[in-house]
Amino acid sequence: MRYLPTGRLTPGMALGQDIFDGAGRLLLAKHLLLSEEYISNLEFLGFPGVYIDDEFTRGVEIQQVISPQVRSRALKIVYELFGGAGDGQESGSAEVRIQKVAESVVENVVNNGDVMYNMLDIKNYDDYIYYHSISVGVLSIVAGARLGLAYDELCQLACAAFLHDIGKRFMDRELVVGRETSGGADEEVFKSHPKLGAEYLRSVFHFSHEVYTGILEHHENYNGEGYPLGKTGEDIGLFARIIRIANCYDVMTSAQPAGKGQPPSEALEYLMAMSGVRFDPQLVNIFVRKMAAYPVGCEVELSNGQHAVVMENFDNFPLRPLVRVIDTGEILNLRDEESARAITVGRLIMQ
Ligand SMILES: [Fe+2]
Repeated sequence: MRYLPTGRLTPGMALGQDIFDGAGRLLLAKHLLLSEEYISNLEFLGFPGVYIDDEFTRGVEIQQVISPQVRSRALKIVYELFGGAGDGQESGSAEVRIQKVAESVVENVVNNGDVMYNMLDIKNYDDYIYYHSISVGVLSIVAGARLGLAYDELCQLACAAFLHDIGKRFMDRELVVGRETSGGADEEVFKSHPKLGAEYLRSVFHFSHEVYTGILEHHENYNGEGYPLGKTGEDIGLFARIIRIANCYDVMTSAQPAGKGQPPSEALEYLMAMSGVRFDPQLVNIFVRKMAAYPVGCEVELSNGQHAVVMENFDNFPLRPLVRVIDTGEILNLRDEESARAITVGRLIMQ
């Protein structure tokens, strides 16, 4: 399986994964042969790239952290809650459903063992808020599991992460989407979303206090310069400190109307640079160990100018993967091979 930017897809290529819309409905199924029409639809919907199956990467399987079925169910409930499904008398059933999905996601992550997060998330920017909520949930659980949180705590963390931006449903969509270019009064309105979300949650659902503070404090910075309360260090709830990191990583690596996503390697560098400033240093340490800087199936440029596809990542050697050179088909193990010692991965090709 291999990641290809949408602009480089050609008819006849076979899709390597199920693609869902923001409401969790299957758009295109795994193994489907792409036609001109499907490719232009992907472009139109704003998907920056997808995974395909091809000869070159035959045998390269990427372990997905959650199953397509669970991803679809999680998207569906988040989509409905952002649309107001939890309001009024339906709130009881919505609460039960989100808890059940949270349990499934946690079980998927825990059953996968200590697997590295090795994929680029496939999302489009029209439905960004829903995909983003799920990604932040999965990333938070991966970090929380590594931290040693108990099953029940992980389920609560998942609920908080899925709903961290629920306050945005009360805001003008244009303000939410176009935030990068606005400022002033708009900025103040935008910054009210953690409080709006936490208050909504408290008034409608019966989640624990930890879930509530996870949402209220997810924009607090470790050094006290965040919002809405300006809390510092470990006064900020643990869930909020975890979600803060997962949120930032996912925002940076996602394509937005305002610009293309950055490679995971750059997002990870940013997390490390902001460790102790925006983020809890202990949690940054955990997080960067779980995330592949150069995910499997992605094309990279090597320091010798050759282009290669990442075939495998090794624990504790995030910058020295096993790669296959595109022009020659040669396999290079950057961790173990004497002859490859001088070669480094230069950059990830996202377009
Ligand atoms: Fe937020």
